[in-house]
Amino acid sequence: MKAIRIHGHSDPAELVYEDVPQPQPGPGEVLVRVYAAGVIAPELTWSETYETRAGIKRTLPIPGHDLSGVVDAVGAGVNDINVGSAVYALTAFDRDGSAAEYMIALPEELAPRPRSLDHVQAAAVPLTALTAWQAFFKHGGLVAGQRVLIHGAAGGVGVFAVQLARWAGAYVIGTGSARNRDFLRDLGANEVIDYTSTRFEDAVNEVDMVLDMVGGDTQERSWQVLKKDGVLISVASPPSVEQAKAHGVRSVWFIVEPDRQQLLQIGQLIDSGKIRPIVDTVFPLSEGRQAYAQGAKGRTRGKIVLRVRDDI
Ligand SMILES: NC(=O)c1ccc[n+]([C@@H]2O[C@H](COP(=O)([O-])OP(=O)(O)OC[C@H]3O[C@@H](n4cnc5c(N)ncnc54)[C@H](OP(=O)(O)O)[C@@H]3O)[C@@H](O)[C@H]2O)c1
Repeated sequence: MKAIRIHGHSDPAELVYEDVPQPQPGPGEVLVRVYAAGVIAPELTWSETYETRAGIKRTLPIPGHDLSGVVDAVGAGVNDINVGSAVYALTAFDRDGSAAEYMIALPEELAPRPRSLDHVQAAAVPLTALTAWQAFFKHGGLVAGQRVLIHGAAGGVGVFAVQLARWAGAYVIGTGSARNRDFLRDLGANEVIDYTSTRFEDAVNEVDMVLDMVGGDTQERSWQVLKKDGVLISVASPPSVEQAKAHGVRSVWFIVEPDRQQLLQIGQLIDSGKIRPIVDTVFPLSEGRQAYAQGAKGRTRGKIVLRVRDDI
């Protein structure tokens, strides 16, 4: 089969489109024929990409952990997943991924593909929507009426964060550059702050929650806009526990986890028209190198997707 493999470390220029052996499902595993794969550019720098959680070195790993496809075969002991069913998933980061014509997934990672989406749209959902979902509802305890500041609101995680926070009844303030102002208002943001012309701390205060997809100086300046007992959640870099204590707020850092039940709930919201994926650019699998290079620039609106099959 054709796949993209990482021949170096961290640099999109070291991605190679080539022939690789097709995987076969072992007991408890599912073989999925991949139709489209989401691009997660930062994964080229993550430790799980090069070493499994059990400490085993990975050689020539295949990136991509957002997938939309069709179940091709199941291993022994898999009884509740039908061959031929359309599925989407976020799969674990320390196994070979979806930038390939076939991949192995686990039953608990897979959910039926939302009926209203095609494969390219569905591949833009799992990682980013699950990250926003887990930030708000698993770690943050978001409830209706709260004020939420979302940094990086126009990016992959951000577009779902804006929509999910509004769906949950929050007042949503997003940061992004001027070119994304109208786009973010259309998605549901109550206010948009252009971070290139305005320091957000001059424009907003007393928020219940900050969701940070940017890190660095943006995260540092976020403590001061939180209400007492508020929460700063970051998925970009771990926030300082000392700073949280000094400001009388809570801090959260987490890594998103695959979750079939949450994908089912997200799929229902999509099929009922409450939230939607945003696809920035679609590349053929053979241009995976260009897709990851574009993603690494950090200007993506929504998600970059690899089209793995030509006939979709
Ligand atoms: N811990 C986890 O489990 C987890 C899960 C998912 C993602 N992440 C991390 O979260 C981060 C974001 O991921 P992503 O996929 O959402 O990123 P992304 O799609 O690459 O984000 C791009 C967006 O960021 C915006 N942006 C850039 N600089 C900004 C700034 N200073 N202030 C506000 N917006 C800014 C850009 O908007 P403009 O074009 O308007 O500038 C662009 O729309 C990455 O570091 C990623 O590794 C972590």
